[in-house]
Amino acid sequence: MQFSILKNNTNFTSNMICILEIFDKINEPKSLQYITQINKNDILNFIKNKKISSHLGSCILVQNFTHPQNAILTVGCGKSKNINIDKYQKIIQAIIKYIKLIKYEKIILFLSSLNISNLNIYWKIRQTIEIIQTELYTLNNFKKHTKIPKIYLNEVLFYIPYRNEIKQAQLAIQHGQSIALGVKIAKDLSNTPPNICDPYYLSHQSYKLQDTNSKKILIEIIDQQEMQKIGMHAYLSVSQGSKKAPYIAVIKYHGSNKPNENPIVLIGKGLTFDSGGISLKPSRKMDEMKYDMCGAGAVLGTMHAVLKLNLNLNIIGILACCENMPDAFACRPGDIVQTLSGKTVEILNTDAEGRLVLCDVLSYVKKFNPQLVIDIATLTGACVVALGHHYTGLMSNCDKLCQKILDASKITYDLVWRLPLHKKFAYQLKSKFADISNVNGNDGGAITAGCFLQEFAEEYRWAHLDIAGTAWTSGKNNSATGRPVALLTQFLIDHMNQKFDEDLNAK
Ligand code: BES
Ligand code: MN
Ligand code: ZN
Repeated sequence: MQFSILKNNTNFTSNMICILEIFDKINEPKSLQYITQINKNDILNFIKNKKISSHLGSCILVQNFTHPQNAILTVGCGKSKNINIDKYQKIIQAIIKYIKLIKYEKIILFLSSLNISNLNIYWKIRQTIEIIQTELYTLNNFKKHTKIPKIYLNEVLFYIPYRNEIKQAQLAIQHGQSIALGVKIAKDLSNTPPNICDPYYLSHQSYKLQDTNSKKILIEIIDQQEMQKIGMHAYLSVSQGSKKAPYIAVIKYHGSNKPNENPIVLIGKGLTFDSGGISLKPSRKMDEMKYDMCGAGAVLGTMHAVLKLNLNLNIIGILACCENMPDAFACRPGDIVQTLSGKTVEILNTDAEGRLVLCDVLSYVKKFNPQLVIDIATLTGACVVALGHHYTGLMSNCDKLCQKILDASKITYDLVWRLPLHKKFAYQLKSKFADISNVNGNDGGAITAGCFLQEFAEEYRWAHLDIAGTAWTSGKNNSATGRPVALLTQFLIDHMNQKFDEDLNAK
């Protein structure tokens, strides 16, 4: 899909369709002034005679008799005073749902005629690109006998009447398209079945970043032998019941104009399938545990967005890939393993495997001397209970880092809610035989998982995003959302523009 800016009065070329906003009780839509090549009276009469609806999201196609190959699509926007973010999203969604059914190749949007409090053209374009790409996304499905309906739309034009908004609009298109690319990569990988998207496949997908021939990308894969050598025994305990060997992909992006600048590290949980292991999960919806790699998918998607944006930062993306299966060789509840940090962990539940994988990676990344570390994981069902499917859970040892993530969440509308961490939760990780256990009681499960990780992230600024409720939509029509690629990319863009003060290097 091409997105571009239209600066002058609308010049129809063939096969274009203009989108006209219809508000309740407003007789002449603002955008009508920009569309010169139509008979305005036709439209005004339609509105007057109530042949066009202002009902939110209702679309009506009005043929343009002067130029029959062009048309106007009116979209109901409700009451003009009441337009908020959710309504805005519904309006754009409705337009695209309609356009999918007709054969026009180009649409023109007049976004400046839609006023949402405090939100500028940059925000509107970013949101619009995201909504359009979400609406047009199709599963790379494995159906051999179903025809995918052809979509004719291939260009979206944003009409920008104000000169001073053009720069912002161009930036929004650049950012929006890069994020859309990242989201698509994350979704496609996450939707791929677990017999294909296994630890080898997932980790080696990172080599696709090198297809662009960028000298800024360096990829290393850590295999099982190497993990043994380093001493990542918590990580290895998770995959020991699987025929599929574990792999860690380390993707280094050198984008900073200060080559020695400390990197930002993003770690993604990449369980290509989580059966629970010996602590086997119930079979209902177990298929959805192919999405237990959405954290890694989001990190890889974000790295693609970063490369396309050519960000002036050093970033290391890590995909922690493995599979959790029951087997004679699988680890047992009661096993004790030594983590890379030296601490011992008693595994009381083999289904709390994400933290076992992540804790060793959190220790591993210390060697990069990171300026900050964010892990992204479908870590706990408890987070879904606590926050539902709209908010990602955020836990952190640094208020400043949290604030930055929350700021990025506000712009992207990729919602995040902070949960507390506190030493008082420690008794829920007590072990009779080892330094800590991987689980001990169910209460506040998202937080206790966060507390477990925090034990291994004491030496740097760290935030943990629990995306168990937000990475995919569950149920009959389950599919990956690509979250939180938008959030992470926005965070990185903002961080590039305003880093932490040097003297704040300590938390
Ligand atoms: N991958 C799951 C978390 C999960 C469950 C995400 C359901 C989305 C939906 C994770 O590995 C897990 O199984 N966590 C356990 C932890 C428990 C054993 C302490 C859970 O949430 O039940
Ligand atoms: Mn699990
Ligand atoms: Zn899991």
